Amino acid sequence: MNRIMRKTVTALAALATSASMAAAADVEVLHWWTSGGEASALNVLKEDLAAQGIGWQDMPVAGGGGTQAMTVLRARVTSGNAPAAVQMLGFDITDWAKEGALANLNPIAEEGGWDAVVPEALQKFSKYDGEWIAVPVNIHSTNWVWANKPLLDELGIAQPTTWDELVAAMEAVKAAGKTAVAHGGQAWQDATIFDAVAMATGGPEFYQAAFIDLDPEALGSDTMKEVFDRMTVIRGYVDDNFSGRDWNLASAMVINGDAAFQFMGDWAKGEFLNAGKVPNEDFLCFRFPGTENQVTFNTDQFAVFSQGDEVSPEQAALAEAVISPEFQIAFNTVKGSVPARTDVSVETFDACGQKAYADLKAASSSGNLFGSMAHGHANPASVKNAMYDVITAQFNGEFDSETAVEEMVSAVELSQ
Ligand code: GAL
Repeated sequence: MNRIMRKTVTALAALATSASMAAAADVEVLHWWTSGGEASALNVLKEDLAAQGIGWQDMPVAGGGGTQAMTVLRARVTSGNAPAAVQMLGFDITDWAKEGALANLNPIAEEGGWDAVVPEALQKFSKYDGEWIAVPVNIHSTNWVWANKPLLDELGIAQPTTWDELVAAMEAVKAAGKTAVAHGGQAWQDATIFDAVAMATGGPEFYQAAFIDLDPEALGSDTMKEVFDRMTVIRGYVDDNFSGRDWNLASAMVINGDAAFQFMGDWAKGEFLNAGKVPNEDFLCFRFPGTENQVTFNTDQFAVFSQGDEVSPEQAALAEAVISPEFQIAFNTVKGSVPARTDVSVETFDACGQKAYADLKAASSSGNLFGSMAHGHANPASVKNAMYDVITAQFNGEFDSETAVEEMVSAVELSQ
């Protein structure tokens, strides 16, 4: 090879390397973290990856709970263009794993010792058939109440600890001309409230039987009727414009003092923090009355879609960044959730975060930790969506409680 040829080959090789590096240096992530609090949490991850020279190709699909994101994902995969990583909940991960769409993360998981540090309840969703196919980002819990503290103080309302006290508190707020319950009428938000009301009304055995075991007797029980009756009571305390409202706008109503309570998972805390609010001064976080000893949880995980035989270096970097203790602390501090590993300290977390963690540990050791039905951790999407339909129809007055119970039994049966 003469000198000129050698130079050309070297130049071409250098070009090829830089081109493949440029192409390889981006990771496309599909997610639904588009609210203010969620976006600040996501920034923690973007910055982490940027520091490693990995670019972020954003694929946001707005819509709390991820309903719309899952529709977009299906279309992307069907057209042969799966994103590198996707925010996903519970049984959706299992469903995609069954289709053989997810990459095997075992080599990374083994090197990182994930088996020893990720709680069992999460591994159930991160693994399929012995393979790690998703990396857990956090643990959220759904049975929370978020309250505007100055408003409650002004109205002389104490933190309610029972259903009757909650009803009295909602009534007092309404009588004062404020909105008692900030809510957005979207199926997943209706189901989030229903989740908490069901746990409070029937207790853990009922929750297990109805939503996890899908026992027709529990689904068709008088307890289920009472759950629907209580949903009707709550319906009486939302404002006239609740229909279709996004959850973070409902949080803003509590933040601004227009409303007293929001019944929502602890991603709501991310909105309060993002607005500069302080727990126990500006807002209160407490378990939905009657569920103080139970936790219904969900965990956001990044499922990694296979794009060839092996996990790409960017996918590997994303997985490693997400599971690292430093990231788990930094991200979850902002997001409102708690770390998805057992070996990190939450002593720097605020009062709500510490409570979330303590509740979770206690619930886990006393057998009171349950995957949230509303957030895809009790049943596959087919069953969850069937329940959503009935819950939303009843909340909007299409069914009375008795009809809703009958519909629940038949919808669940048909969905399986
Ligand atoms: C949940 C998710 C949370 C939060 C919420 C609202 O399903 O687990 O991380 O994003 O939806 O968007």
